[in-house]
Amino acid sequence: MTDRYILSLDVGTSNVSATLLDHDCNSVSTEQKPITHFSPHPGWSEEDPEEIWRNLLSCITNILIMGKIKPVNIAGIGISNQRETTIIWNRHTGKPIHRALVWESRQTEDIAKKLISSGYSNMIHEKTGLFIDSYFSATKITWLLSNVEGAQRQAEQGDLLFGTLDTWIIWKLTNGHVHVTDYTNASRTMLFNIETLEWDQDLLTLFNIPKELLPEVKSNSEIYGYTDEKTFFNAKIPIAGIAGDQQAALFGRFCTNPGDVVGTYGTGAFIIMNTGSDIKLSDRNLLSTIAYGIDGKVTYALEGSIFVAGAAMEWLKNGLEMIDNIEDAASMADQSADDGRLYVVPAFTGLSAPYWDPNANGASFGITQKTTKYDYIRATLESIAYQTTDIIYSMKNDTKLDVRNLYVNGGVSTNNYLIQFQSNISGIDIYRQNTSDADLRGVGFLTGLAVGFWDDLDEIKRHSGQGKLFTPEMPQTRRRKLYRGWQRAIRAVREYTN
Ligand code: G3P
Repeated sequence: MTDRYILSLDVGTSNVSATLLDHDCNSVSTEQKPITHFSPHPGWSEEDPEEIWRNLLSCITNILIMGKIKPVNIAGIGISNQRETTIIWNRHTGKPIHRALVWESRQTEDIAKKLISSGYSNMIHEKTGLFIDSYFSATKITWLLSNVEGAQRQAEQGDLLFGTLDTWIIWKLTNGHVHVTDYTNASRTMLFNIETLEWDQDLLTLFNIPKELLPEVKSNSEIYGYTDEKTFFNAKIPIAGIAGDQQAALFGRFCTNPGDVVGTYGTGAFIIMNTGSDIKLSDRNLLSTIAYGIDGKVTYALEGSIFVAGAAMEWLKNGLEMIDNIEDAASMADQSADDGRLYVVPAFTGLSAPYWDPNANGASFGITQKTTKYDYIRATLESIAYQTTDIIYSMKNDTKLDVRNLYVNGGVSTNNYLIQFQSNISGIDIYRQNTSDADLRGVGFLTGLAVGFWDDLDEIKRHSGQGKLFTPEMPQTRRRKLYRGWQRAIRAVREYTN
């Protein structure tokens, strides 16, 4: 078994990556390449699907050539991806009709606003678990079909295909033979009914989207098709796992029990909780989504996202020039003598979950003559933990589930000050894994299970640790006091801007 591998691919917002997992769950080789980002107008965010595929293929080529790995030694390929990002291409030529509209792009905000004012919010929330927003794929598809000349007509004739990045990459790997997606990605389109597990005809009609455009929706762990021998290293390799990146991370950290929570701290942060086999619709502005579906059994999740996490550290580095790199921020925060009086609310692009207040502006509170840059660094790091705590409290209230552990990953989670403070302020144990590739591992596990590379999840768990443990070290009275201060800061920000 030692010379057999799972090839995990990830299409993130900034990079594409490929990694080889061996049977002991070690990443034996990893390649990464950046993706060019286009912003033709303020707030718009686009990427080139052909470049994404080229760069991913080049990562795969490097891994195979440099590691002297024969394609026949790859037992299966899995794909995790930035979710919601929307591509439409011509099924005959394989050419995209436009650049990909990236999840964060706000160019379809007007379509979303119109739907809200027309009273569709409840209906859409009940069917999809989502709140109407330009974040999800549906308004992006509508925008592409109505802004690219002739696209609506071609879609109605069945000449076009839609996909998120998983669908696009599988289409490329199979040389245009397979057009599929999975439950997790489908659940982020705002067109998929998460209860019936089907594309919802009422929503397709509302968004004027012909059904022929949409991929077939599959489970997260099964063989969807094979790489095309003519175009992929003369090899016919099963493609057997797909998951949106946050859900892949949830699986990759073995969060398979209700109440398990994963936090991925990147530019933004995504907090996702396994809620079991029942859909929990949130009263607190969290998204209900599909965690994974395996062997006919679907598990649901609640998710809250934070727009500004690593982005706040970038602000300290590039905007305020207070730090040279994110790693230094932990030791600099330790030098703060401030007793928790300074709060930074980095609402640079409004407030995300659980507030969803697009108009909120950033602010800082509690400045004195003695405030130093160290206090600012500390308060900015703490803002990430406070926002995460807001989401965890909302999850607890929505589900009545106990959150005992939080499993963290992502570049910003390497900051010890942040993770210790996160544990202190939320009062829960945190496991931090040193790898930043929980999504690649997660989709690798889903793939390996489908092709029999591993027998079951227990076997995988035996090979993988859960990482370094951080336990709360703050007395409850102080935790409550600090958190009350944060809530006052949030209230003040919202009163100021609305
Ligand atoms: O929903 C968007 C999310 O999947 C993007 O993740 O890690 O590529 O920024 P990331």
